[in-house]
Amino acid sequence: MTKRKILITSALPYANGPTHLGHLLEYIQTDIWSRYQKLREHETYYVCADDAHGTPIMLNAQKQGITPEEMVKNVSIERQRDFADFNIEFDNYHSTHSDENRELSELIYNRLNEKGHIKKRTISQLFDPEKNIFLPDRFVTGTCPTCKSEDQNGDSCDACGATYSPTELIEPRSAMSGATPVLKDSEHYFFDLPAFEDMLKSWLRSGSIQSEMANKLDEWFADGLQQWDISRDAPYFGFEIPGAPGKYFYVWLDAPIGYMASFKNLCEKQGLNFDEFWAEGSEAELYHFIGKDIIYFHSLFWPAMLDGANFRKPNNVFAHGFVTVNGAKMSKSKGTFIKARTYLEHLDPEYLRYYYAAKLNSGITDLDLNLDDFAQRVNADLVGKVVNIASRCAGFITKKFDGKLSDSVMDEALLNSFSEAQQIIAEHFENREYSRAVREIMALADKANQFIDAEAPWVLAKSDETLERAHQVCSMGLNLFRVLMTYLKPILPGMAKNVESFLNTELKWSSVAVPLVGHEINKFKALMQRVEPEKVTAMVDASKESLESKVATKQTKTDENSPLSKEPIAAEIEFDDFAKVDLRVAQIANAEHVDGADKLLKLTLDLGGETRQVFAGIKSAYAPEDLIGKLTVMVANLKPRKMRFGMSEGMVLAAGPGGKEIYILNPHDGAKPGMRVM
Ligand code: 2FM
Ligand code: ZN
Repeated sequence: MTKRKILITSALPYANGPTHLGHLLEYIQTDIWSRYQKLREHETYYVCADDAHGTPIMLNAQKQGITPEEMVKNVSIERQRDFADFNIEFDNYHSTHSDENRELSELIYNRLNEKGHIKKRTISQLFDPEKNIFLPDRFVTGTCPTCKSEDQNGDSCDACGATYSPTELIEPRSAMSGATPVLKDSEHYFFDLPAFEDMLKSWLRSGSIQSEMANKLDEWFADGLQQWDISRDAPYFGFEIPGAPGKYFYVWLDAPIGYMASFKNLCEKQGLNFDEFWAEGSEAELYHFIGKDIIYFHSLFWPAMLDGANFRKPNNVFAHGFVTVNGAKMSKSKGTFIKARTYLEHLDPEYLRYYYAAKLNSGITDLDLNLDDFAQRVNADLVGKVVNIASRCAGFITKKFDGKLSDSVMDEALLNSFSEAQQIIAEHFENREYSRAVREIMALADKANQFIDAEAPWVLAKSDETLERAHQVCSMGLNLFRVLMTYLKPILPGMAKNVESFLNTELKWSSVAVPLVGHEINKFKALMQRVEPEKVTAMVDASKESLESKVATKQTKTDENSPLSKEPIAAEIEFDDFAKVDLRVAQIANAEHVDGADKLLKLTLDLGGETRQVFAGIKSAYAPEDLIGKLTVMVANLKPRKMRFGMSEGMVLAAGPGGKEIYILNPHDGAKPGMRVM
């Protein structure tokens, strides 16, 4: 077999915020592939780095009162600890804020510029006059120009799905200061992507790209490629563009160059040849594992940049889907937004590696982490099938046969059937069809257990005449177990390591067909505990807790919160407590907008003689004119509270799912303002 040279990357995580189970899908998927290639003894490198630049990181550091460099460093320490604890084994972990990355970014930019692929033109952009900063799209909010929904993002509307430029928003506001942004001109630098259309089309035809990706790309080509804005104005955390003071590379320009920079850094440490992997015409293979949301950057901009700067292009880009938990998007309130660290405090990382592998294939559909299925599957497959083989055979070998396996193999045909599966399992790993590999391996595990059940060594070991057969059976069982664990090694590196010390041998792909005979093994120690459902529940609860405290602080901080936030139900109260709440029918005498408030309306409520001013967070559901004259229920004896916009003397009750649907209840006919409701 020829030895391949393979360079593998995962997307570089933003140095902003904690690692969660969604991130881990990609690193586990890539790590399994990298470990598999290494097990096949190919010269393989798996590199990654922090994606350190950009406005959100700069602002986050500002908020913490530290420099972006300090913040990136702090996040990186945590991040690398999380990865290591999930047995993700990088050959190098670097940063895009590094000397190597600056040099390579400048080199690539200069080459593109020399070839005329960089264009300059002045564009008008929203600018925050209070903070003196140009506003990225996601830092502008306002009313959707299409459906007129308020509080929409700068680039797209959650309510109607329209996409637009932030300058089209009605009543735009800066999310940084609340100020009304002004339009300001600035010269920007563009990468001439359309010039690479033919090259990109032929590059995409040259590899076997995922079909879903091919469809997406066809759409983009049909829409026409656009020039790509690669510059940002100061203040910006990033690299200044050579010859352009005050202009910085947009984070997405130097991020993928970070793949090269991390590898370069590895070359410096290990004396490897950088050009062998990156020069045009390189024979080495290059693969990027990414999420489906960043296909555009990796299959258009990135190969075009490489091509324009005389570097080799990737052999392929492998996209995966997102993680859902219990069938839904990860949710902080449900406790299913689970941080890597919270998981590790409760559960074994190998469980998650196995579960993801058992469900992963080469497509981009989302993967559901169903927590009941997770516990059940790990227990049934790993504990119930795989570990069970070893635990049923090992004791006899140690106790009755001095820890030594038999001198011959009892059932060669069975063992051959195990080693012959190697070919198909290899293909599944290579094609990233891990779920198929797992299915094959578990079918073999079933076969091994059937063999042991049929022979019942615990019965054979009882009589002297059959004792030698018990030796044969248990040795055979452990040889089958060894083959299975070799196949599982890329998925379960932690367990494989323990198995290597138990079997006193290295699990090598090339040794699968060579059984251990007359070989001394070590004492068996438990290889994996069952998943305890209580621990899964505790993990979910712990993930909830960290959020509840946040909700609490948020609600005391601003009264603009909808009263409809999805909090858990509060502690039970006595009827006497409830009776203290004076609920009254009130007529809305007047309703008006509040300057500077996103969600509030100012209501004047008539309680039948007495009027009250109340600020209510129902602006997203009602125009003021629609409310005037309506009846509602209010808490009439709530202690007046001073809010940013004035005193609020009570609270109105409303129902509905929230967002755009909050309903003022119209009490039955005959309700009169001031009437007590009970
Ligand atoms: O989407 C992200 O999380 C980016 N930080 C990924 C960058 S991948 C590469 F291009 F650096
Ligand atoms: Zn809209």
